Amino acid sequence: MQIVKLIAETQSIIGKYKANGKRVGFIPTMGALHKGHLSLVAQSKKENDITVVSIFVNPTQFNNHNDLKTYPRLIDRDLELLSEYEPDLIFIPEVEEVYPEPDTRTFDFGYIENIMEGKSRPGHFNGVAQVVSKLFSYINPDNAYFGQKDFQQVAVIKQMTKDLDVNINIVACPIIREVDGLAMSSRNMLLSEAERKNATKISETLVKACNLVPDFNVSQLKDWVINEINNNTYLEVEYFEIVDDTTLKSIEKWEDSKNRVACITVQVGKVRLIDNISL
Ligand code: PAF
Repeated sequence: MQIVKLIAETQSIIGKYKANGKRVGFIPTMGALHKGHLSLVAQSKKENDITVVSIFVNPTQFNNHNDLKTYPRLIDRDLELLSEYEPDLIFIPEVEEVYPEPDTRTFDFGYIENIMEGKSRPGHFNGVAQVVSKLFSYINPDNAYFGQKDFQQVAVIKQMTKDLDVNINIVACPIIREVDGLAMSSRNMLLSEAERKNATKISETLVKACNLVPDFNVSQLKDWVINEINNNTYLEVEYFEIVDDTTLKSIEKWEDSKNRVACITVQVGKVRLIDNISL
């Protein structure tokens, strides 16, 4: 497990692997790793000769300064967790090297960046695209692994690889959940004990919503989910949308889509949690 900070050194190591015909799998992360990230590492190890993990809290994707400031940074713990999975290379660049000057690139993903997370966090997906395109150019992986919890992010990154015409296979991996159903997230560790306990209501409600599809129309189900969650004093729904899993278009009738995904963002105290479920 090699730990590298510099871009040029990373490029040189990976260049040698590639020259020897090795397949490279890549997992970009912002650290504060949990079992969801580790499942991506495990999958990459199965499907590639070489696995690279990056740890970089990307400032350009935070539209809220306090969120960036409080984002958990636990590098020693991350390295310890990763040592059990033994990725070949861990890339931990400095902000100054990734952004020697402000990144002024603007990506245009059209509709998919202006709904849900994109609407709530203006500029967020542009920042994600800025950093992921940079990381892709340093690592040049064959496969890149992303968690399906960030459902819209996966769609944006797929669109970005298409637009940039880079030959990288984007692999979306299932959401990993705590025993009580809460989707694993680096932000969960910011919850108080009471908030953590009440946050289980989010996944619990999504599962119940699946079972209610035959009985409710789309609008009734949306109202039911929002009321159910907002009735818990610790939770406040920011948005709840039911969308087609490919176009991300919001559906009005069940017949509008065969592959529907219910996406939710809930404010739990100061912490913003997202989750989704296939309906
Ligand atoms: O999902 C994340 O952790 C981040 O958005 C990513 C993809 C590592 C880019 O900073």
